[in-house]
Amino acid sequence: MEKKTFKRTLVTTALPYANGPVHIGHLAGVYVPADIYVRYLRLKGEDVVFIGGSDEHGVPITIKAMKESVTPQDIVDRYHTIIKESMAGLGISFDIYGRTTSETHRKTASEFFRKLYDKGEFIEQTSQQFYDEQADQWLADRYIMGTCPHCGNERAYGDQCEQCGRDLSATDLINPHSTITGNAPLLRETKHWYMPLDKWEPRLREWILKGHKEWKPNVYGQCKSWLDGGLQPRAVTRDLNWGIPVPVEGADGKVLYVWFDAPIGYISNTIDLLPDTWEKYWKDPESRIIHFIGKDNIVFHCLIFPAMLMAEGSYQLPDNVPANEFLNLEGDKISTSRNWAVWLHEYLEDFPGKQDVLRYVLTANAPETKDNDFTWRDFQARNNNELVAILGNFVNRAMVLTHKYFEGVIPAAGEWTDYDRQTMAEFHDVKATLGQNIETFHFREALKDAMSLARIGNKYLADTEPWKLAKTDMERVKTIMNLSLQIAANLAIAFEPFLPFSTEKLRTMLGMSEVRWDKLGTTDILAAGHTIQQPVLLFEKIPDDVIDAQIARLERIKQENILNNFRPKAVAEPCTFDDFTKLDIRVGTVMECEKVKKADKLLKFRIDDGMGGRTIVSGIAKWYQPEELVGRQVCFIANFPPRTLKGIESQGMILSAEDADGRLVVIGPTGPVRPGVQVG
Ligand code: 2FM
Ligand code: ZN
Repeated sequence: MEKKTFKRTLVTTALPYANGPVHIGHLAGVYVPADIYVRYLRLKGEDVVFIGGSDEHGVPITIKAMKESVTPQDIVDRYHTIIKESMAGLGISFDIYGRTTSETHRKTASEFFRKLYDKGEFIEQTSQQFYDEQADQWLADRYIMGTCPHCGNERAYGDQCEQCGRDLSATDLINPHSTITGNAPLLRETKHWYMPLDKWEPRLREWILKGHKEWKPNVYGQCKSWLDGGLQPRAVTRDLNWGIPVPVEGADGKVLYVWFDAPIGYISNTIDLLPDTWEKYWKDPESRIIHFIGKDNIVFHCLIFPAMLMAEGSYQLPDNVPANEFLNLEGDKISTSRNWAVWLHEYLEDFPGKQDVLRYVLTANAPETKDNDFTWRDFQARNNNELVAILGNFVNRAMVLTHKYFEGVIPAAGEWTDYDRQTMAEFHDVKATLGQNIETFHFREALKDAMSLARIGNKYLADTEPWKLAKTDMERVKTIMNLSLQIAANLAIAFEPFLPFSTEKLRTMLGMSEVRWDKLGTTDILAAGHTIQQPVLLFEKIPDDVIDAQIARLERIKQENILNNFRPKAVAEPCTFDDFTKLDIRVGTVMECEKVKKADKLLKFRIDDGMGGRTIVSGIAKWYQPEELVGRQVCFIANFPPRTLKGIESQGMILSAEDADGRLVVIGPTGPVRPGVQVG
């Protein structure tokens, strides 16, 4: 198929919910790749607009507000500011970062809905919904809790059980109750407007499955599976008091469903950015629209929003939706509610001036084809072994040598050798694949390409050894240093989309007035005779203690989560006093303790039980060194029938309990007790 050419590009990024800050998962999946893409297009001199903004409606925001006893507006004001500032801090170069509580957005989304309504594009349906009479409020699924019918978790939500991970309907819950008043909710009938997605299914099928085979396999595959499963009508309104009112008579108390208004936010933000020319970007067939999103948003961007656009009739459909998979953190799923994340605003505080390190690591580990993992050790290794040792090292050497031999004045190149020509030819090959990889959304590969340019530079210096030639052939050194500095200038172009802060520093040091992609691969970027600045290090090694502190923070969070999520087991069947007295629990003093040979788990105790002593074998070797326990008092069951473990007769059972780390700790009296005393 012939490659279509476009006059301009509109790039959008998923609007993050303004109910929390953004974390590295959002960045690796959406914002960093989109920013690389946009910066690249800008370097090529293309007409591109980059749209971002906060998604400020929806139930999670109202729940957060309720928990904090503030208004939803307070919540979105707070997080919109944090998100906007932190994204700017990382160099995500939006042309606009808007918000869905703006007046432009309210108007745009209302008019969009109204147009579809007037065209008869919705169907009206009534359904049964939970209602809290005391609060006089409809209950969204998240406002209802009850027992999960699958795993018995008593704190399952009306849309999902966080214990077993299953999706639920509120009506599936056993003993449902309202999280607002705690009352059992009533089922009441309510009317809503639905997008008949089934009607659009044939066109969506044709458009994606036939027309967009070039989409990423994960995106294409997910669309195909939704389409093959058959699309159903979807409600686009909700009974809620936070959102854009449904612009129809008799729809009091109803708002647009957040997933109806959020993608329209891309349009509203374009209108705010370009009040006179926005339509060109959305409606002209010579424009292309690219949505950067995470995999959980695929259905909305590839099926539902396009169906809305088809129904409206005057908009272009997206040309591509390069959705990414998810990034994990130290092997575990990132979770806002469990605080299992590296938050961007905190990173910027903890690592001032190191924006590019994060950008680099997130691109190198981008979850492009499958879920991927961020670890602090990898972060450190990539900084120290790649950014410092390869890119920073080459630039620094080229500049230091120029200062040493030519007082910082760029020497004119003499005749090139075959080796010089070969070096630049390699450069050329990489340039072609680098651009191609960015254009096809293979950002990890593109970053490797850029890094291989720095490797070529290092190899060139190592092979030509100007420090040796300086004694014998200064003319040759001039050529080598000229070419090395031209390579450094090339790196300032190649890395600009990925590492904008460092390339800006590099440009300043080299005195480059402009950066253009078409200069990549050329060797006349820097004029001979120009004086370069003194080099400053582009990257610095990150020491172990800095990384250890981040890892320790995560460990603390893990501990807190274990404590917070601990739910004691249900209390056992009632027992009688007689049952209790049958168990003869005593206090004893540990006289000796040793490991049992050929048994990792077992410790052998000699206990002073006040009755001549006894031997007990206990499975706690993993948690204690034997000498730690000698002299301690422990509780043990004295009337257990003896049993033989690894050839040793054990005459009782030492009591223990699991601590927050899952370790067993022995149970004993808190003050001295005579050995043999009964516990009761
Ligand atoms: O998943 C989310 O975080 C949504 N707030 C994304 C919305 S994308 C768009 F449609 F605005
Ligand atoms: Zn469950």
